[in-house]
Amino acid sequence: MKLGVNIDHVATLRQARMGNDPDPLMAAPLALLGGADGITVHLREDRRHINDRDLRLLKETVPIELNLEMAATAEMLRIARHIKPDMATLVPEKRVELTTEGGLDLKRQRKKLQAAIKKLHDARIPVSLFINPDNTDVETSKEMGADMVEIHTGRYADAKTPKAREREFRRVLLAVEHGLESGITVNAGHGLNYHNVKPVAAIDGIRGLYIGHSIVSRAVLVGLERAVMEMKALISEVAL
Ligand code: PXP
Repeated sequence: MKLGVNIDHVATLRQARMGNDPDPLMAAPLALLGGADGITVHLREDRRHINDRDLRLLKETVPIELNLEMAATAEMLRIARHIKPDMATLVPEKRVELTTEGGLDLKRQRKKLQAAIKKLHDARIPVSLFINPDNTDVETSKEMGADMVEIHTGRYADAKTPKAREREFRRVLLAVEHGLESGITVNAGHGLNYHNVKPVAAIDGIRGLYIGHSIVSRAVLVGLERAVMEMKALISEVAL
């Protein structure tokens, strides 16, 4: 099973000071060294983390699969067709949300999404649709010509009780099974962390998991001790 590492939140930390550090361009090869099979970035309309420069340079330097998460807007389609990531994942995007809140609304947005899929396909970019764990959405994605779906695991990840978690897990499982029966490639992601990933990773037939926030969060903590030691050493070299 592939692991696609979403490095958006390295850029979130950079944007906290509007400077250059930490640079997501340096995070990508480190994720690769750790075993990542792909790098994902979400270029949002408001450029709150990843920006156009990051995407352009990542495309030039990332030797593994570069997955561009994007809203199906004219601007993003123009950028994607120009940059040509290895794949594009269409996601819903609301300006005020903290993160992608739910899967795509395939019923209401079918025409728009279908046109976006066609435009991306014309540029030879494979397309994945980020959908809720719902059998109808899986079938509709296939009908719409998507190459892949990414099943939203957020409700499973956020479930507050074991019973709710079990219910949400079954939804994910059934959607994956339905996708495989329908002949579409199935990925999964959102909210997966070091405590909840194993049951999802154990589902047969999922092509890849897309994980971001938990990995970047852990990187801050597992790297903090060394970072403090390095600063302390610099200070000690000259201070009394
Ligand atoms: N998949 C999609 C489609 C997403 O929008 C996100 C968040 O950017 C992720 C996966 C990763 O979610 P998380 O950061 O919670 O691991």
